[in-house]
Amino acid sequence: MPDGPGRSCPLSYRYGAAALDSAPAFETETLWIAGGLYGNPCALERLLELYDAEPGTKALVFNGDFHWFDADAETFSAINASVMRHRATRGNVETELALPESGAGCGCGYPAWVGDEEVARSNRILERLRRAAAHRPEALRSLAALPMHLTVTLGGERVAIVHGDADSLAGWDFSQERLATGDGCVAAAEALRRARARVIACSHTCLPVLQALDDDTAVVNNGAAGMPNFERTHFGLATRISVRPRGGAMYGARVGRLQVEARRVDYDHAAWQRRFLDWWPAGSDAHASYHARIAGGPRYSPGQALRVAPVAAAPRAA
Ligand SMILES: [Fe+2]
Repeated sequence: MPDGPGRSCPLSYRYGAAALDSAPAFETETLWIAGGLYGNPCALERLLELYDAEPGTKALVFNGDFHWFDADAETFSAINASVMRHRATRGNVETELALPESGAGCGCGYPAWVGDEEVARSNRILERLRRAAAHRPEALRSLAALPMHLTVTLGGERVAIVHGDADSLAGWDFSQERLATGDGCVAAAEALRRARARVIACSHTCLPVLQALDDDTAVVNNGAAGMPNFERTHFGLATRISVRPRGGAMYGARVGRLQVEARRVDYDHAAWQRRFLDWWPAGSDAHASYHARIAGGPRYSPGQALRVAPVAAAPRAA
């Protein structure tokens, strides 16, 4: 396994699935969860419109990496203020800004399938963002105070909210790649049992997946709220979990008494492209890593994201 800044997962990021088996922070009927806003103010504006239109008792949780591309102090500050009006948990970006670990780089904990050049660019993006955030010490203090995970109840069902996976803030066990394996599904089902949760909602690994598991449980990863998640699209995704289904979901599944859905965040693509290019023109690190995805989406489809049954575990050798 490669090591070094951007690869390793700092010890302070680890909590373990049993930590999610905690008293609920609050109870509600409908939960919106937006991970990976990545400093996109256009996506934030659209997300808040969608959330405002939601009827009934509700809460909005930003589960980390709401900052990333917003490397100017004014936008950083405005996004931070909006997020702090709702619930939030820390992602690796916020953690490395507010509580930096020596040698952690961007804190992404990138697995081996992500190339060294991309990891190096991520570390440099974080350094630039850190310089912008240094002008806003009050925002950094608010980030340092955020929890790494939250547990919520809806209709008597427990939903755990994390940034990475059940064990770590920057874990990759809930990536679509890992959940495409039998071992990955078995490990995820065990994590849900240890967390005593019906659903775990996460983000961090950049591609969405709604994975049904044994015991009528599920992992839902929204991919990114602030970047396209599917080929030839220009919208982000948020997760909606509710005791009530509601029209307009991109895809969804019933899990216990809960409706778990992926919701489109149709932001102003042209306006976002302009903002992004102002901050990160051709030749910059973020442009090299993300512009193609922002312009045309990743090679991934909604049919790959919705998985109504776990992958069977491979039989063990005798
Ligand atoms: Fe992350």
